Amino acid sequence: MNFSQDTFFNHLAQTSPYPYLISIDRAEGIYLYSPDGRRYTDLISGIGVSNVGHRHPHVVKAIKEQVDKHLHVMVYGEFIQSASNRLAEKLASLLPPSLSCCYFVNSGTEANEGALKLAKRYTERTEIVSFRKSYHGSTHGSLSVSGNEIKKQKFRPLLPDVRFIDFNVEKDLGQITQRTACVIVETIQGDAGVRIPSRAYMKALRKRCTEVGALLILDEIQCGMGRTGTLFAFEQFKIVPDILTIAKAFGGGLPIGCFISSKEIMSSFTTDPILGHITTFGGNPVCCASSLATLEVIEKENLLASVEAKGRLFESLLQHKHIKEVRRIGLLFAIDFDSAERVNSIVNHAKELGVICYWFLSHPYSFRIAPPLTITEDEIRESCEVILKAIDKSST
Ligand SMILES: Cc1ncc(COP(=O)(O)O)c(C=O)c1O
Repeated sequence: MNFSQDTFFNHLAQTSPYPYLISIDRAEGIYLYSPDGRRYTDLISGIGVSNVGHRHPHVVKAIKEQVDKHLHVMVYGEFIQSASNRLAEKLASLLPPSLSCCYFVNSGTEANEGALKLAKRYTERTEIVSFRKSYHGSTHGSLSVSGNEIKKQKFRPLLPDVRFIDFNVEKDLGQITQRTACVIVETIQGDAGVRIPSRAYMKALRKRCTEVGALLILDEIQCGMGRTGTLFAFEQFKIVPDILTIAKAFGGGLPIGCFISSKEIMSSFTTDPILGHITTFGGNPVCCASSLATLEVIEKENLLASVEAKGRLFESLLQHKHIKEVRRIGLLFAIDFDSAERVNSIVNHAKELGVICYWFLSHPYSFRIAPPLTITEDEIRESCEVILKAIDKSST
């Protein structure tokens, strides 16, 4: 075993000067264990990934069975493989008929890259409309359509012809026009600190896109896969996107993303030019097997049915004079405080007490809670006690 901090700091690229820095030996359900036997409750699901818990036995079994058959055999799109066929069929059975054609990729950001390219190719337009405070990923295209200016400045030039409008503000929808190839939007803005749009707004957005012939891309990379209480968040708004992007929890702990559209739209990648989007590892059979097993767990264990009640229980227990606001949909929470310093202090105290909550990328006044959907009521009570203790101990 090598849990050396020197190796971690010197031989692994650092994404910030202050990594969370706990060592992980193994994980099970909602718990992570360090080599010294310390147990941590994972209240963030590895940032929106472990919706069915860590190493769910059904997922692990499916991975092992696939490993015993074959690993990678060919780049995406050439060979017929049972794992990707079965996953695509399953998704088609769970989605509206217009979302019947999947393109499997490796990550959330790649799913968005594919979706943006597809929209430009299909509409033969160039403008992309996105939203202030959004987050869509860290590669050039996804970064270009993300709202956080500080994160973008040093990487310009980025994609041209991107227009930003305000989220959940109907009067801005007029800026979506016949020049617009697509609108990309998180159904629930995650890293902006859980911003939930009104149903009327989402319907108006859908209507405007249809009126001007712009494709609507819903990014459900963070809010999909049951997190909000329905398998996909858009179901709650009674709209259907032209392209849906998913990743994170979709893989059940292995890396896979997907953009999904109609067969007609997706076909524009097939010719002129051929190979409109290609990827070596997209649709990796082990990831597809893990993904299918994850969907099966959500279904068989009826996980969606208890999401709302569990969310309400958290909300009822998290009462403290320092909490300014709680924004919640399903089991996705932003808990707001008066200062970023207090949030830091709470997250760090919670860590010392063995509970992992975490920051948002673009909203320093909140921390997030997004536990595995498998969390039990007792585990919620225990976790909330610890969080309240961490808030008591916090300073500004
Ligand atoms: C809404 C949303 N879109 C896209 C991404 C990017 O996904 P990935 O980190 O897999 O590239 C994220 C990641 O946090 C996200 O929250």
